[in-house]
Amino acid sequence: MTDSQDILSEAKQLLKEPIPVLDEEDLFVYLRSFFEKAETFLNAAHQHGSPLYLFDEQTLLERAQQFRDAFNKFFPDFHIFYAVKSNNHPLVAKSLVNFGLGLDVSSGLELKLALSCGCRNIIFSGPGKTESELRLAAENSVVTVLIDSFSELERLERVARSLNNQVRAGVRLTTDEQGLWRKFGVALSDLESFMDQAETCSHVNLSGLQFHTSWNRNPQAQIAFLKRLGQTLQKLSQRHLAAIKFLDIGGGYWPSRGEWLQFAGIPAGRLYQVIHPEVRPSTKHYKLEAQPINAFAQQLSTAMTTHISPFVNCQIYAEPGRWLSNDAMHIVLTVIDKKADDLVITDAGTNIIGWERFETDFAPVINLSRPSQSEHECLVLGSLCTPHDVWGYSYFGYDIQTGDVLLIPSQGAYTYSLRQEFIKPLANVMPL
Ligand SMILES: Cc1ncc(COP(=O)(O)O)c(C=O)c1O
Repeated sequence: MTDSQDILSEAKQLLKEPIPVLDEEDLFVYLRSFFEKAETFLNAAHQHGSPLYLFDEQTLLERAQQFRDAFNKFFPDFHIFYAVKSNNHPLVAKSLVNFGLGLDVSSGLELKLALSCGCRNIIFSGPGKTESELRLAAENSVVTVLIDSFSELERLERVARSLNNQVRAGVRLTTDEQGLWRKFGVALSDLESFMDQAETCSHVNLSGLQFHTSWNRNPQAQIAFLKRLGQTLQKLSQRHLAAIKFLDIGGGYWPSRGEWLQFAGIPAGRLYQVIHPEVRPSTKHYKLEAQPINAFAQQLSTAMTTHISPFVNCQIYAEPGRWLSNDAMHIVLTVIDKKADDLVITDAGTNIIGWERFETDFAPVINLSRPSQSEHECLVLGSLCTPHDVWGYSYFGYDIQTGDVLLIPSQGAYTYSLRQEFIKPLANVMPL
């Protein structure tokens, strides 16, 4: 247990660390890319009403192409499975399936969506799969089940036997045996006995391994796990090694624009907020760097050559969600009430993104009706009965008035799929 003196001295150290500020020119380049399309966004709002999610298929497919190109350069047999949880709108999944990607699903609900898109290559990952979810998977030969535990292996075998079907499967490996991440997969130290048990299951064809680390702004966590995996593979029998036909390296790739944060999103801001919890509008923005996807591909390929290839040569799978969907959906809102020069209320609440994202994350609020690079401090708040209903603490425009149409760009990942019908209705999705 840490005592308060320790906490204080650690906090002091944290405050000494430099605060990464978002470069103004980077921000302006990003803003200009939306000013150029302002007419298109405004027309969509006039035609379909507000609030609205706009699905940007062209950008989605550009991201899919970039991701594929980056990894194909280094991995001869590479397969991408889009993580549906990051944005579960059917148009997003359908579009990526038509582009040639597989889908990564984490529930029966997502599996049904993937099947309804005509997807021919589905992986089903996640803890606590129910009997009916396993049955749906076992009934469809396009599904590979990524088994999460010894008891799930038993249940899958039972379900598959009752259907007299063979199920293709992999096993998820725990990347961190401590704390909350323990809930995912089986420990590396249990891999051999898991493979032994799978050999006794005549309806489960165990043919691969999976791991996933989250929020990777660089590939260090993935590389560290590949190293540990290599040490485990070294001890496996030739028979077990020969059974491994794929290695799924998961998702978690952070978009290369980096993580854009409000003051409250950086460590110093978090500490400050404990002492001064009141809202402090600020036009200071911060950025945590993320490596480009080519750098991920290159470094992961080197790690694979060092740690994995000496034992196993197999197909490589990846499960990107955020990297693909982040820039593929934008939110359009309208100012419904101007209560002061620095306080406006919009027609939608943050229930349409499902969490209090912009208290800590920064996305520019762009006034499409009066576009300008100049930023004005202003509370841009939604219409829910909670003060935590924040879109931003500033807007970009030469003014703001009732009726103005606002854009919150790049809201494709972990917003639409977290939406909730709380007080206000949900918004429609329209193609851009
Ligand atoms: C197993 C698994 N794969 C892939 C993903 C997608 O992660 P991301 O959207 O960060 O790429 C997740 C996200 O939680 C996950 O749990």
